[in-house]
Amino acid sequence: MGVYMQPTKKNGKLIIKMTEFSGFYKLSVEERIARIKEYAQLSEAELIVLKNTGALKLDVANRMAENVISATHLPLGLGTNFKINGKEYVVPMAVEESSVIAAASHGAKLSLPLGFEAHADEPIMIGQVQIVGLKNAGDVAVKLESKKTEIEKIARELTKNMEMRGGGFRRFYTRAIKTERGEMLIAYFEIDVRDSMGANTINTMLEGIAPSLREYAEEGQIRLRIVSNFADKRKARARAIWKKETIGEEAIEGILDAYTFAKTDIYRATTHNKGIMNGIDALAIATGNDWRAIEAGAHAYALRSGKYQPLTHYEKNKEGNLVGMIELPIALGIVGGSINSNSIAKIALKILNVKNATELAMVAVCIGLANNFAALKALSTEGIQKGHMKLHARNLAVIVGASTDKEIDEIALALERRGTYTADCARDILKEIRLDRFFL
Ligand code: MEV
Repeated sequence: MGVYMQPTKKNGKLIIKMTEFSGFYKLSVEERIARIKEYAQLSEAELIVLKNTGALKLDVANRMAENVISATHLPLGLGTNFKINGKEYVVPMAVEESSVIAAASHGAKLSLPLGFEAHADEPIMIGQVQIVGLKNAGDVAVKLESKKTEIEKIARELTKNMEMRGGGFRRFYTRAIKTERGEMLIAYFEIDVRDSMGANTINTMLEGIAPSLREYAEEGQIRLRIVSNFADKRKARARAIWKKETIGEEAIEGILDAYTFAKTDIYRATTHNKGIMNGIDALAIATGNDWRAIEAGAHAYALRSGKYQPLTHYEKNKEGNLVGMIELPIALGIVGGSINSNSIAKIALKILNVKNATELAMVAVCIGLANNFAALKALSTEGIQKGHMKLHARNLAVIVGASTDKEIDEIALALERRGTYTADCARDILKEIRLDRFFL
């Protein structure tokens, strides 16, 4: 603790010095909390909040990331009404935004009784090794090609744990590139990672094989050895039909207009895809997965033609019903990574009842499609604020101190009637309710 100075104050304000945090990682969690308490002048009540990490115990959190002082929380809800390839699912979703879970459940409900049809590719991830400083990358590509059998043997050896589970090495190829920093050769490895997300498997394998690649190349320098988050060999797709008798012709026309807008305008397409990722990320987080990887892959896929496009597609079939489709890369696992130390993720996977990562990928795209459908339907007809605000009104009631369900309901209803959704208004209503009760 000796390296730490008392935080300096100037004109009553804390002066932040970077040195005050050097070596922070060496401290125990307790010591870090004590340090941050004095640094940010936290109260005892705030310390109690920091130390309450819920299902993620502080010592477990401390093993998952660095400089840990607490854990943060998100609501975990259940998406309902999902029927996918004839099987019914209750879908855990972790998300802080109101209406996302309701929208997914609503979109799924309107797809019944048929529900969704979905399909997912084999769980193949791609890894890349970069070799730089080459006189002629094409020549090196030929050299590596001539050693293909040896390279593949090493790749198999390095992924034999995956092979034992039915996955393992699938393909090796190279790509020579000319850049402003000279010629480079990129070696690609495709590995079937079965039920894991796969980044660890791939990265370990790449670091293991890189020295042999350098040896066979006979020149150059190995640089990057890393998984690609553009998991385009691991896509999932889904389809649903929303009947005109169920949702009405006006909703169908509205959704088709909204979709056409997204196809032609990147400002809209980005928000359209954000709505899709609302559901997919919520599932990824609930199941302890790396949602940044999913996000990166999704948006790269949206741009694969060179023009950023919606990840869903809508059309009217000959009966006049709405057909919705979705396709994107989904690198989600049900084992490995942080899932093992995340007890909520394990429970979420049990609730979801998927037998492998491929099935999880299918559920993910169905949620994305359901969320997108529900958003477009609401946006193109009544707008989304009505639904959003209903939930927001309940949040406001809690924020201003409503302490019973009755108070929360009364405030939410009054806010809705007044059409003003502010904390001040909610506070006034709470005062009025309590005053009325006092005089009753
Ligand atoms: C909000 O989180 C998501 C939406 O903006 C999606 C969309 O506009 O399609 C409602």
